[in-house]
Amino acid sequence: MGEYSSNRALRFTESVIREMTRVCLKHQGVNLAQGFPDFPAPAEIKEAAMEAIRANLNQYAITWGTPNLRQAIAEKFAWYNGVSIDPETEVTVCCGSTEAMISSLMAIVNPGEEVIVFEPFYENYGPDTVLCDAKPQFITLHEPDWRFDDQELARAFNKKTKAIVLNTPNNPTGKVFSREELQFIADLCLKWGVVAVTDEIYEHILYDGAKHISIASLPGMRDQTITINSISKTYSLTGWRVGWAIASGPLTASIRKVHDFLTVGAPHPLQEAAATALRMDRSYYQTLASEYLERRNFLLQVLEEAGFRVYRPHGAYYIMTDVGHFGFSDDVAFAFHLVEKFGVATVPGSSFYGLSSSGATKIRFCFPKKIETLQRAAEKLENFKAKNS
Ligand SMILES: Cc1ncc(COP(=O)(O)O)c(C=O)c1O
Repeated sequence: MGEYSSNRALRFTESVIREMTRVCLKHQGVNLAQGFPDFPAPAEIKEAAMEAIRANLNQYAITWGTPNLRQAIAEKFAWYNGVSIDPETEVTVCCGSTEAMISSLMAIVNPGEEVIVFEPFYENYGPDTVLCDAKPQFITLHEPDWRFDDQELARAFNKKTKAIVLNTPNNPTGKVFSREELQFIADLCLKWGVVAVTDEIYEHILYDGAKHISIASLPGMRDQTITINSISKTYSLTGWRVGWAIASGPLTASIRKVHDFLTVGAPHPLQEAAATALRMDRSYYQTLASEYLERRNFLLQVLEEAGFRVYRPHGAYYIMTDVGHFGFSDDVAFAFHLVEKFGVATVPGSSFYGLSSSGATKIRFCFPKKIETLQRAAEKLENFKAKNS
């Protein structure tokens, strides 16, 4: 049926991450592929959603978000990210950060314009550039510490560059961009009139003393940044589909139009509950980070003991590994072997690169899971180790 498909739809493939979840179900494995928690979301947020439904907040909300949620987003962005914004004109509530990202890019990018994307990247950013007819310019984050080369990045900026997509803390590498790195990027954005589109959904999941810095808080960047976030990761609510884009008034006006015609709006009662989430006691975020630290340390040790070469993440909830020494033809073959023979689902590294061969020795594990689940994965990886030693 390919003849009915648009050229645009034919230019990207089905999500490998979501495919691995389906393969995992078939083999009744442990899913360390798709990044969603297997533990419950906080009770008070769930209660707030049920209360909103009982209070009959069940019809369309204002397309760009309920006033209560936009106010809560502004309050939190001021205290945590250090930027004060006007909730009336500078926030668009979307169906997850996924929609916030595509609505933002469609709102600012013209066909043929260039968008700089650091790679390895969260797999949606590739199709996102295709969907807005942009030309992606990939800039490598070099292992082991995933630094970019200053000169390479500076050379990528030109008159056709419209935006640079950032993700800090980063999926899949766990890199947390430093103030110096963000300042270097900001200086280039200011020099070339480029918009920084920054996905900060892991902003509270930090290890080893890493600090989250929003590029919007750097001098001159407030009006040249679109900051994207959601409740998915911070509050363990990936299925609710509530996210947002924060940008200057003129940028927001464009984002709101695209958003309105793509989705009309995010679920009304869940927006009300999201406002409750954003106003939770600040100690919640410390507990979240310390629980993730325990999971990270557990899985790091398991993977090292099973013979994987690991890259220690400083943020987010993924561990990137190198598996080149196991002798498989590529990462996809390795990932299928691991799930089909040993029951552990992972994501092949090539899904995070523009050129598949760049990720051919990499495999990503995720750990937003109960310790019992990680323990089950550990047992399965022990079997893998036994067969490979
Ligand atoms: C970097 C990044 N951005 C966005 C998303 C999707 O977020 P949401 O559920 O808010 O659409 C993910 C999910 O894994 C992610 O890792």
